[in-house]
Amino acid sequence: MRRDFYQAISDELNNLKINGTYKFFKHNTNAMDNKINIEDYGEAIVLCSNNYLGLANKKEIIEAAHIALEKYGAGAGSVRFIAGTYDIHRELEEKLASFLNMEASITYSSCWAANTAAIPALLSNGDTVISDELNHASIIDGCRAVSRGVNRAVYKHSDMQDLEEKLIQSNESGAILVVTDGVFSMEGDIAKLPEIISLCRKYNAILMLDDSHATGVIGKTGKGTMEYFNVNDGVDIISGTFGKALGGAGGGFIAASKDICSILAQRSRPHLFSNGLPPVLCSIALTAIEYLESNPAIVKSLKEKTLYMRKKLKESGYAPLEGDSAIVPIIVGDTAKAIAIAQEMLKEGIYATGFGFPVVPEGSARIRLQISDALSYEDLDEALSVMKKLKKEFAGI
Ligand SMILES: Cc1ncc(COP(=O)(O)O)c(C=O)c1O
Repeated sequence: MRRDFYQAISDELNNLKINGTYKFFKHNTNAMDNKINIEDYGEAIVLCSNNYLGLANKKEIIEAAHIALEKYGAGAGSVRFIAGTYDIHRELEEKLASFLNMEASITYSSCWAANTAAIPALLSNGDTVISDELNHASIIDGCRAVSRGVNRAVYKHSDMQDLEEKLIQSNESGAILVVTDGVFSMEGDIAKLPEIISLCRKYNAILMLDDSHATGVIGKTGKGTMEYFNVNDGVDIISGTFGKALGGAGGGFIAASKDICSILAQRSRPHLFSNGLPPVLCSIALTAIEYLESNPAIVKSLKEKTLYMRKKLKESGYAPLEGDSAIVPIIVGDTAKAIAIAQEMLKEGIYATGFGFPVVPEGSARIRLQISDALSYEDLDEALSVMKKLKKEFAGI
């Protein structure tokens, strides 16, 4: 008998609700900032946005967006190679490349699109892709999308010995692509970039770095993981997003050599079959980069706020995972518990998210705090006082 398709979906949804692991959406009713209004909850301090530098509601960014909308209209209206390439795509791509000290860049509708575009487009039969086990889902999907003759390997999280073993096991004649997040999105820790670069050099591998949570956040002037470690070269490909520190609106990119970017424009499927990034989003991203270049102090300010939050959490008896990014996760164990704690926090006016399976492995569900430079120290203190009050809800930490 054929399985009942609709019944299976309905059963799964019911089970999620029974188990307390259903993700209910909350509806924001104004701009993302230090605080936001949420339907049915009222105003809350935001500790779960990707708006790391607080640019999502910055006057300069909004003004630039208005001007771009007037000039270019709603969207690109076409795929890039058909009729959807604008002067502002070129301007953004050149600006981004120079900001990241790469030869060129190419934009996509998101970093999800960039990762799932680039990995399969760059590898051919006999090649190998080697990926950190905690890499973002878009990298995992990019690796899954390679053609059947490409070898795939996963190394234990930040385990350099395991990475070396996987490099040794790779096909001798094919190219090797090593892929890592710069800042790991669920852990907040930073890839061991200098060691990864030297292993890639030793085995003649190409290195791809996803700096989605790093660009604008780490490194003295917000240039990301390379700047954090003071390395000038050794990374062949950087992927990233405009949906986090760089304006928080949307869009993604690959920054690499001119030839890599050109072949991606010729060959990668999301570029060939999906509309170009709307010019208004190009303008937001461009203005965000310019703002960051003129105001590098916001990166330091974000770092200081993150250090403050980490220190105060520890003084209150919490044990956040160690890390030097703006992601501060507190492990609570059970998925339903993480979701329930986040709900309690929201009732107290603090917006944080509980992450559980399948986003993180079962048993390591967490409240992931993300610090933003939009937050004032008063906002952080208010969040801390709520967390102190809810200490027993986090029991076991
Ligand atoms: C490491 C990493 N890569 C890629 C993405 C996807 O970015 P985008 O929202 O631009 O698709 C994310 C988003 O959470 C991420 O954390």
